[in-house]
Amino acid sequence: MGVDRTLAIIKPDAFGSRHAGDILAHLEGEGFRVVAARVLRLTAPQARTFYAVHRGKPFYESLVAFMTSGPCMPLALEGDDAVPRLREVIGATDPSKAAEGSVRALYAESVERNAIHASDSEENARLELGFFFPEAELVDID
Ligand code: RTP
Ligand code: MG
Repeated sequence: MGVDRTLAIIKPDAFGSRHAGDILAHLEGEGFRVVAARVLRLTAPQARTFYAVHRGKPFYESLVAFMTSGPCMPLALEGDDAVPRLREVIGATDPSKAAEGSVRALYAESVERNAIHASDSEENARLELGFFFPEAELVDID
């Protein structure tokens, strides 16, 4: 355990319904610091690359369409044990199975339109942080 960083994305459903502020407050309330943030609309090639691990699955094309449907908000987050902690805080992929009080239980609309992404391993966190944030953009907070 130690202070480390992970990547979250407030997805187009939650960003479009103006829940970005609520979700940021929730993440800060859980002890995360925002060390970088952007608002952008993913292109289809970007969404395909970002979710390449799911290529060939039945939900892949629909996921790409959803993730490119409007602006989203990638966040670099810092905290103790950031990768597993953030997965816990966002809740299960399917909001009907997400723990009470988790981000997805509060804000997700469906298993696809589920409000937020979080990196699932330290290796993926490094790759996904690099996808959105060149190192120079990450604030150093002591
Ligand atoms: P994420 O990568 O976005 O943090 O989500 P996750 O780890 O909880 O779930 P994952 O299995 O990686 O799936 C990525 C995203 O694809 C959409 N999905 N739709 N219709 C479906 O059955 C289905 N399954 C997954 C969701 O947007 C999910 O978060
Ligand atoms: Mg995933």
